[in-house]
Amino acid sequence: MPYLEACVAETLRLHNPVSAVGRIAAQDYTIGDTGITVPKGMLVNFSIQSMHRNPDYYPEPDRWNPERFMPYNRDKLVPYTYMPFGLGPRNCVGMRFALMETKTATAYLVNRFKFIRTPKTTVPLVQTKLTKYRRCLCRL
Ligand code: HEM
Repeated sequence: MPYLEACVAETLRLHNPVSAVGRIAAQDYTIGDTGITVPKGMLVNFSIQSMHRNPDYYPEPDRWNPERFMPYNRDKLVPYTYMPFGLGPRNCVGMRFALMETKTATAYLVNRFKFIRTPKTTVPLVQTKLTKYRRCLCRL
């Protein structure tokens, strides 16, 4: 089970479905000693994907390596650099449910099926452009 959890965590790091989160400043806010002040009412978008692929926090960031999330490596993770479900009081309310169903479905599938690469399998994975995906959805 720790390895299954690590696989899910690493997949959500590399291929997080929600690539960014946003917040609107409730009041003027100066960020530390940067001299940057976010004025009240401004929308601030934060790229989760950029954080998850930052080599300062994840060596060889494009490599799928579940070992990063094994219990004996967890203390190497830097707080606030992993946030597939967002963070803070408005983070994802469905997180526990989503993780439970993902792990259940994965365990069920690997238990009953054998997964193999085909000649069409791209390694590393190449993602379909969102516009193409939307077009596919429209055809359904
Ligand atoms: C792998 C699956 C999922 C991922 C990666 C995901 C990710 C996220 C992210 C990044 C946010 C924004 C959090 C923030 O702004 O800090 C969010 C919000 C939210 N998610 Fe999910 N989510 C997933 C599944 C689900 C499921 C299964 C449900 C419901 C059953 C759900 C319900 C919500 C709701 C209601 C919010 C808005 C929370 C708020 O604004 O207070 N999510 N999710």
